[in-house]
Amino acid sequence: MGAGIAQTAAQGGWEVALRDVDEATVDAAIAGIGKRLDRLVEKNKLTADERAAIGARLRNGMRGGELAACELVIEAIVEDMTIKTRVMKEVAGQARTDAILATNTSSLSVAAIGEGVGAVERTVGMHFFNPVPLMKLVEIISGERTDPAVADRAAKIATTWGKTVVRVRDTPGFIVNRVARGFYLEAMRLLDEGVAGVDEIDAVMRSMGGFRMGPFELMDLIGIDVNYAVSVSVWDQLGKPARLEPHPIQRHLVENQRFGRKSGRGAYSYDMESPIPALPLDRKSFDLPHSTYEAVRLFADGAGAAGGSITEQFVFARILGAIMNEAGLAIDEEVASPADIDTAMKLGVNYPHGPTEWAERVGRRTCRHLLDALNEGPCAGRYVAARWFRE
Ligand SMILES: NC(=O)c1ccc[n+]([C@@H]2O[C@H](COP(=O)([O-])OP(=O)(O)OC[C@H]3O[C@@H](n4cnc5c(N)ncnc54)[C@H](O)[C@@H]3O)[C@@H](O)[C@H]2O)c1
Repeated sequence: MGAGIAQTAAQGGWEVALRDVDEATVDAAIAGIGKRLDRLVEKNKLTADERAAIGARLRNGMRGGELAACELVIEAIVEDMTIKTRVMKEVAGQARTDAILATNTSSLSVAAIGEGVGAVERTVGMHFFNPVPLMKLVEIISGERTDPAVADRAAKIATTWGKTVVRVRDTPGFIVNRVARGFYLEAMRLLDEGVAGVDEIDAVMRSMGGFRMGPFELMDLIGIDVNYAVSVSVWDQLGKPARLEPHPIQRHLVENQRFGRKSGRGAYSYDMESPIPALPLDRKSFDLPHSTYEAVRLFADGAGAAGGSITEQFVFARILGAIMNEAGLAIDEEVASPADIDTAMKLGVNYPHGPTEWAERVGRRTCRHLLDALNEGPCAGRYVAARWFRE
C-alpha cells in the first residue's frame, strides 16, 4: 500500500520521501514503482518525460534530512497499534511541526493512533484502496478531536491526486469494510442453511444484482484470512451484534489454510482450469411464510431483479437487504452521509449501485417490509431494520 500511495502522490506532482524498515527495502519499493511507471509509458499512458519527472520526485527517506520539509506524513505500516504509533511519533518528530499525520489503517481507531502519537488534532485517516494508483476512493476519517481544517486539507490533497474522497466518522470498519460485511456473511449463512451452493449464490449476485463478482469469488480473491480478520475486528469493535458475527465457515477455512486464490483453495478449488466449488451444500427445502414470500418478491422486483426462482430471489434479497440495512444503520449512527456511503461502495468495492440509492429505488418501506419479514424467522434479531427505513 505504501508504494502505491507514494506512486500516486508523485504522479500528483508531490515530492515524496519513502520510509520502511531499512534503506534497501525502500530502494526496492522505488524500483518497483519505476517498473510500474515504465509499463504506463509502454501503454502510452505517460510520456517518457513525465515518467522521468515522477521518478525524480521519489526519494529514499531513510538517508537523513528528507523529512524536514514534509507537510504530510502517511503511514501504511503493518496493522499494529504499538508499531504504528512508535514509528509515526519518530517520523513526526522529523517533519514540520504542523505536518498532517495521516494513517492508512483499515481497522484501528484514528483517534487512538493520534493519542498514541501525542497529536490528536493533526491526525487523520486517509484510507486508500488496493491497488492505490487504480482505485479512486479515499475514505477521509476524522477522529473525535481531529481538527476539521486538517481533514479538509487531507481531502483536498487526495482530490488533487485524482481521488474521490468520502468523509467518515472514526468508527469500526469506516464505510466500506463495514457496509460490505453483509455481502459475505449472509452468503455463508445461506450456504450453511442449505438454501443454495457457492456457485449458485455467486451467479445470483452477478446476474440479478449486477455485481462483478459474487461473494465467494470475491472472498477468495481478497483472501479468506484477510476477510475473516476484518469480520472479527468490525464485529468485535461494534459490540458483537448478531448480524455481524463472523461465520464458522470462514474460521474453518482459515484454520485449514484455505485462504482462497493465493493458496489454491478457498470457497472454490483452483486446481483445474476453471474454479470448482469446494464447500459442500447440504440442500434443504425451505418453506417461506406467505408474508416473507411476498416481501421477497416485491423487494426483488423493485431492486431490478424480477424473474428467477423464489430461491434465487430469496438469496438476492437476503444479501442485498443485509447490505442496505448496514448502510441504514451507518446513517443512523452518523458514520457518513447516504451520498458518501453510495460513492464509497461503488468506488471501493465496485458495487453496481450505492446501497442507499438502491434502497430509495426499491422504496424504503418495501425494504423495511423485507427486513421485518426476515426478522420474524429464527435469526437472533439480525434483520432489525435501521431507523432510516422508517423515516
Ligand atoms: N492491503 C490492503 O488492501 C490495504 C487496504 C487499505 C489499508 N491497508 C492498511 O495499510 C497498512 C499496510 O498494509 P499492507 O497491506 O501494505 O501491509 P504490508 O505488510 O504489505 O506492508 C507493511 C509495510 O510496513 C513496513 N514496516 C513494518 N514495520 C515497520 C517499521 N517498524 N517501520 C517502518 N516500516 C515498517 C513493512 O516493511 C512493509 O513494507 C495496514 O495498516 C493495512 O491495514 C491495507
